[in-house]
Amino acid sequence: MPTLAVIGSQWGDEGKGKITDYLAEDADLVVRYQGGANAGHTIKVGEEVFALHLLPSGIIRENVISVVGNGLVIDCDELEVELEALRKTGRSGKGLRLSDRANVVMPYHRILDGAEEKARGSKTVGTTGRGIGPCYSDKIARAGIRIGDLLDEELLRDRIATIAPVKERFAESLGAELGLDQEALVAKLLSFGKKWEQYITDTSVLVNDAIKAGKKVMFEGAQGTMLDIDYGTYPYVTSSNCTSAGICTGVGVPPSAVGEVIGVTKAYTTRVGAGPFVSELTDEVGKHLQTKGGEFGTTTGRARRCGWLDLVVVRHAVRLNGMACIALTKLDVLNDLDTIKVCVAYDVDGKRVENFPSNVRHLERAKPIYEELDGWKSWEGSTAELCKRGYEALPQGMRSYIQYIERSTGVPAGIISVGKGRDETIDRRHKKW
Ligand code: GDP
Ligand code: IMO
Ligand code: MG
Repeated sequence: MPTLAVIGSQWGDEGKGKITDYLAEDADLVVRYQGGANAGHTIKVGEEVFALHLLPSGIIRENVISVVGNGLVIDCDELEVELEALRKTGRSGKGLRLSDRANVVMPYHRILDGAEEKARGSKTVGTTGRGIGPCYSDKIARAGIRIGDLLDEELLRDRIATIAPVKERFAESLGAELGLDQEALVAKLLSFGKKWEQYITDTSVLVNDAIKAGKKVMFEGAQGTMLDIDYGTYPYVTSSNCTSAGICTGVGVPPSAVGEVIGVTKAYTTRVGAGPFVSELTDEVGKHLQTKGGEFGTTTGRARRCGWLDLVVVRHAVRLNGMACIALTKLDVLNDLDTIKVCVAYDVDGKRVENFPSNVRHLERAKPIYEELDGWKSWEGSTAELCKRGYEALPQGMRSYIQYIERSTGVPAGIISVGKGRDETIDRRHKKW
């Protein structure tokens, strides 16, 4: 089965963009299946740095077809900005395909995102403010506008006329005003439809045909397992299924089409926004990880909360996603620490807990149970040269850390990443596709 899935094991920002780009060298298609412009994937290629939000990471390789699946929510203004930025780098974006079934993030979704956060008072989720929750809510409530609607003026006008008054009343109940000009909205959306007509298609047919033809297809996750609407730290989550299960509904492929799942796992833990984080460090070590790891959001610029690696989280992710291996990233950020801790279980009200709890109150009370490992010193010379020499060239302490994680999660660390660049990667997988 020539498909690979790249999925985040933690609360996002694990380095999915880097790993997807690295693996996309051999890919024919890179397919996103959920999320929207809340994502921020940074990819470094030589001296160039790309910050992608909606566009699949394959878009920077001109020979790759980059699919935005039906499971995404598309902010048209955002997509336009991103395509413009891409073109400025000399890339055409011609490989882009947009699902006609993907939902559209409407301007009022952003306003409602802010108004809903405000209404939560001190219990805000800390969303990215990109209208993601309100857009997915409307999709489920059958009040969404879909990308295919942008090609059908009569349908679009009719949908907006039905939906807009309800949205106006809802916004009013939250003390917000939408001031919707339905005609202007219709005209704007139709202009996007016209501009992108050549990209809009039934992407389920496209992807299934490609798989049947033996093409190499990658599924790229956004966010991470702990932000999954069902299995994350609810209600401090995003509004889509970030796990591998989301691929089927978010692309329109059967479960049998999902091949090897690779779980991108940061060597420590970060999270943006509110919500429980058992292994969080609010001390100097946390600050050190934040500074050295450059832990500031690609989308909102917010500082990411930092902490030790939480193996309760990673085991949860391995099980839920069926991860065949993990891609362990940012190990270099741990260089030069004397000791490194890993959270192996939680203490919840005096009881040792090994599986990730569903109850947010239990999580808020949970205390980390740590094991301590020796640190290691950084290497001399360039990281790319080190990687050329392979796994055995890594510092002994780092290899022990990797082995500890492999034992605890039960899966191999198939890919090791010790820097931002493509060549700062060690691929230990026996079978590549
Ligand atoms: P994503 O959302 O999972 O794609 O991750 P982000 O792109 O938001 O954040 C990961 C950041 O870490 C990016 O700036 C990457 O360039 C960077 N990065 C990825 N892998 C490594 C690594 O192994 N070492 C270091 N130092 N940085 C990395
Ligand atoms: P990538 O793909 C990290 C977080 C937000 C907030 C919660 C809900 O770069 O890993 P939303 O706007 O989705 O309704 O916000 O989810 N969040 C992310 N955190 N990385 C992301 O994406 C995220 N996308 C959403 O900070 O806590
Ligand atoms: Mg990110």
